[in-house]
Amino acid sequence: MELEGLEKKAKGSGASQLVVKDLKEEFVKDFIFPCLRAGAIYERKYLLGTSMARPVIAKAMVDVAREVGADAVAHGCTGKGNDQVRFELAFFALNPELKVVAPWREWDITGREDAIEYAKKYDIPVSVTKKSIYSRDRNLWHLSHEGDILEDPGNEPEEGMYMMSVNPVDAPNQPEYLDIGIVKGVPVSINGKELSPASLLAELNTIGGKHSIGRIDMVENRLVGMKSRGVYETPGGTIMWHAVRELESLTLDLETMQVKDMFALKYAELVYAGRWFDPLRESMDAFMDKITEKTTGSVRLKLYKGSVTVASRTSPYSLYREDISSFENGQIYNQGDAEGFIRLYGLPTRVRAMLEKGI
Ligand code: ARG
Ligand code: SIN
Repeated sequence: MELEGLEKKAKGSGASQLVVKDLKEEFVKDFIFPCLRAGAIYERKYLLGTSMARPVIAKAMVDVAREVGADAVAHGCTGKGNDQVRFELAFFALNPELKVVAPWREWDITGREDAIEYAKKYDIPVSVTKKSIYSRDRNLWHLSHEGDILEDPGNEPEEGMYMMSVNPVDAPNQPEYLDIGIVKGVPVSINGKELSPASLLAELNTIGGKHSIGRIDMVENRLVGMKSRGVYETPGGTIMWHAVRELESLTLDLETMQVKDMFALKYAELVYAGRWFDPLRESMDAFMDKITEKTTGSVRLKLYKGSVTVASRTSPYSLYREDISSFENGQIYNQGDAEGFIRLYGLPTRVRAMLEKGI
């Protein structure tokens, strides 16, 4: 368990008290689900697992600071990453009077090896060794791996590094079908069984991990200007992501989907950049709330050796009508209307061609 030894570590580091809070349900319901519903994805690939977690942690830290009367908060982020920005923007937003202590930036710890030396010197137990020096961040949504051999984007990730998903080669030889029930753009059930947000995600992590779902290897642009290489495991999140997007293909019309996708890009950028508590993010949630009102239904997915494919989708609010779309004859759509439509729709095309040909 990750909580094991924390008391000793905290006291060893000079703390007078250790406070542990279980934020899992809040994290999934109030931070992950809004991003999922918005379709937020950073640079085409990253499902924002670390980015979404920082504001919920920062919020709890600000609460504890208030409860114990502290005038400062600290974090262990390096001075080269995104996380320092996310924590500190959240602190600013929630209590601008708090002082921030960031040892990596203030003391002479210039790299992870220095940090390990420092911890050794003061007898503070740390789980990383100089041999295994991946920088990892784990929560209910994902696990990130950075550093070590991954720092060269030319290196393939080692199979032994993965912790949430099995090697696709060892995944079951039979595909598994899953029914995901969705209400207003967020998942609520698996195979008809309703679960709380955190239990639903935990269950999908187990199933997804077994089928090696949700491994991402990417080079991303950090907020502080540099590129960095990261490998992410997001098994349950990837399943949810596919299910929600698929249902939207029934419930959103063309323009609505386009506008939503445009907003999703900005939404992801805000979350990545640590601007969770900005009024812009909150306003976009009001938009998402409205636009996903009818995204309710069920999606059946097929998991097989690292892939998620859709088998079927249904919704009481589906805009798809077989009686209109079918190639067999129907009443509502008159094929004869298409002729006039095409003539007018194509008028600019004809005018351009006439000009070019001097007609
Ligand atoms: N690059 C990812 C992000 O910025 C993951 C960061 C992981 N953080 C960490 N402290 N290991 O969201
Ligand atoms: C860190 O610098 O603390 C981790 C990486 C990141 O924040 O992007």
